[in-house]
Amino acid sequence: MAFDDQAVVKEQYATEANLRARQALWIGAEGEDAKEILWQQIVLAKPRRLLEVGGGQGELAERIQRDLGAQVSFLDFSPRMVELAQVRGVVDARQGDVQALPFEEGSFDTAVAAWMLYHVPDLDRGLSELARVLDDDGSLIAVTNSEHHIAELRELFAYPRDAFTMSFNSENGEDFLRRHFASVERFDCEVRATVRDRGTLVAYGDSSSFPTREVPADVPLPFLVHGRSTIFVATK
Ligand SMILES: C[S@@+](CC[C@H](N)C(=O)[O-])C[C@H]1O[C@@H](n2cnc3c(N)ncnc32)[C@H](O)[C@@H]1O
Repeated sequence: MAFDDQAVVKEQYATEANLRARQALWIGAEGEDAKEILWQQIVLAKPRRLLEVGGGQGELAERIQRDLGAQVSFLDFSPRMVELAQVRGVVDARQGDVQALPFEEGSFDTAVAAWMLYHVPDLDRGLSELARVLDDDGSLIAVTNSEHHIAELRELFAYPRDAFTMSFNSENGEDFLRRHFASVERFDCEVRATVRDRGTLVAYGDSSSFPTREVPADVPLPFLVHGRSTIFVATK
């Protein structure tokens, strides 16, 4: 089983339930919040025409449209995620695949791909599509996790050894991006979640596409989990 198996991806995001179970773990986490750093980078980009790919439940697209007044296009593989974005008022929300973007060359000044490039089977094709739809000095803001992300949970759940061999991660992301973009900046960040109840751990494990070992009834609480992510800003 791999992160970029599209049958697994389709099932994983058929509804928002799995995403929500994992997000619950990070409520109240301390440290450098990747979502906040992502937001700061989007603001700095001063987007006018922005494309978000793999935007999930659409909160970010909605915020960009509302707070920055940008014209936003949203594209996600999952029909349910598209529906959720539409409910939030994202005007141009459509189902699709980043590997075949339904937009003309140079349509956007900014693109956002947050925690989704590791799901893309042909990553170079996805990145070349993103570069194609950006204008001459456009930027892609991409977020992903480190190979060392949630190391404590991987041990607790006894994930298969190759479960996190992600195609795009903090360690190799810069190399992938440099094949399609002239410059790449990176911001690495770490958060600590203190989990106080076993239920949150169980829900996180159940949300996974991988087989997981049952959380022991006497799991030591509070349980500390480190999240390690990177925000890349790649410019053409
Ligand atoms: C981990 S979720 C991230 C959602 C959101 N960006 C966030 O940060 O909460 C990954 C999202 O990417 C979408 N996705 C996966 N593969 C995709 C592809 N090839 N093209 C477009 N979207 C894709 C999934 O349907 C899912 O909504």
